[in-house]
Amino acid sequence: MIMADEENQPKDKMEAIVNLCKRRGFVFQSSDIYGGFRSTWDFGPLGVLLKKNVKDAWFKAMVQDRDDVVGLDSAILMPPAVWEASGHLAGFTDPLVECSVCHQRYRQDQLEVDSDGNPLAPKCPQDKKNVCQLGEAKNFNLMFKTFVGPVEDSANVAYLRPETAQGIFLNFVNILNTTRMKPPFGIAQIGKSFRNEITPGNFIFRTREFEQMEMEFFVPPDQGPQWYEYWKNERMKWYQNLGISSDEIRLRDHEQDELSHYSTGTSDIEFMYPWGWGELEGVAQRTDFDLKAHSQHSGLDLSYYDQQTNERYVPYVVEPAAGCDRATLAFLLSAYCEDEVNGESRTVLKLHKDLAPYKAAVLPLSKKEELVSTTKKIADILRPLMHIDVDVTQSIGKRYRRQDEIGTPTCITIDFDTLEDNAVTVRDRDTTKQERIPISNLENFMCA
Ligand code: GAP
Repeated sequence: MIMADEENQPKDKMEAIVNLCKRRGFVFQSSDIYGGFRSTWDFGPLGVLLKKNVKDAWFKAMVQDRDDVVGLDSAILMPPAVWEASGHLAGFTDPLVECSVCHQRYRQDQLEVDSDGNPLAPKCPQDKKNVCQLGEAKNFNLMFKTFVGPVEDSANVAYLRPETAQGIFLNFVNILNTTRMKPPFGIAQIGKSFRNEITPGNFIFRTREFEQMEMEFFVPPDQGPQWYEYWKNERMKWYQNLGISSDEIRLRDHEQDELSHYSTGTSDIEFMYPWGWGELEGVAQRTDFDLKAHSQHSGLDLSYYDQQTNERYVPYVVEPAAGCDRATLAFLLSAYCEDEVNGESRTVLKLHKDLAPYKAAVLPLSKKEELVSTTKKIADILRPLMHIDVDVTQSIGKRYRRQDEIGTPTCITIDFDTLEDNAVTVRDRDTTKQERIPISNLENFMCA
């Protein structure tokens, strides 16, 4: 019997997830042996599988399952001209305020405000009156600057991209010329982006180096609003199809003063993180802002000529822009559960099977040679089809708990009866129900 209710959930779910991630090899503090490097994280053996599954699920939904979106993998290093045109050099800034006593820096727009909307100074630990002496707000550009080649002068400046989107706009004409795509169509890209965030934090939620999953959907200008609605719905469904429940996720329209410099309308898909609602993904109407800006700055024509209507226009863009690390954290939080099976408590990650790092664990009941060799045969059948784990140590109960905790949907146990009847016991992670399956049916069972 399984029991689970609100009371069985840990008080601090975030702490439980961070501990589990470290203990079981999902996420480690980066540069740990040197004391750690602030707000950077390394994905371990299980984390890399989970994150890859999130990315694969996104790419499948956005590219493979459709006939109107193609993929791209563009460069991370890009010259200043790109960021001049895109508006990021001038506009991709946060207002920064500094305490003149302790020199702690804050994002002005994230400070608490009084009833008149004026920012409240946080408490300063070094000031005797315990009031923070905040200076004037300065705009701080979030892009990481570097130099290409050996000479560090202004001619050699490059920026690490703060969004993958610009690589897509720069390749718009390349893709028109090399494929049969025509608006409405999209270009999808997964890759790292970098922002020198003033206040990173909440584990992998806000970091300076992160992965984005972005798609720019190019449409005739008059179709902008309808595709905006379409993509908001599609993207909400994607999270829900992968196990996020409808009360954990919502759409929130940006207020006018929240909009990015390129957007005329944005909706955030938000997830109920342990500290409250937080952004998972933004769906934005970027209009023709980017293509027009790159046309003007490069001197090249980035419009589309529609042969059927004999019209030339600069397409409007609807952009669903998701964060892979934030989505991974949301899936972990949503899946995390503590329940009781037959009077024994367990931690279980009820991850959707497409996201689970291992699809199955193959477990011999004991280390006896006959069982281990059959285990190996079964592992050899399954390995080409999916990521699996083989575990021969500890009692079978402990091994089940271990697999529950990392979200493995199926445990396959080889016992002494297996040697007689060529069948195995298959245990379901969520229900803990067990059934006997002939080895000859295992491949079909697992791929169903
Ligand atoms: N191209 C549009 C764009 O970049 P954004 O809302 O700034 O829009 C899109 O970023 C998504 O990227 C966010 O919804 C979030 O999931 C993720 N993201 C942005 N900044 C992040 C950070 N510092 N750490 C982790 N993820 C981040």
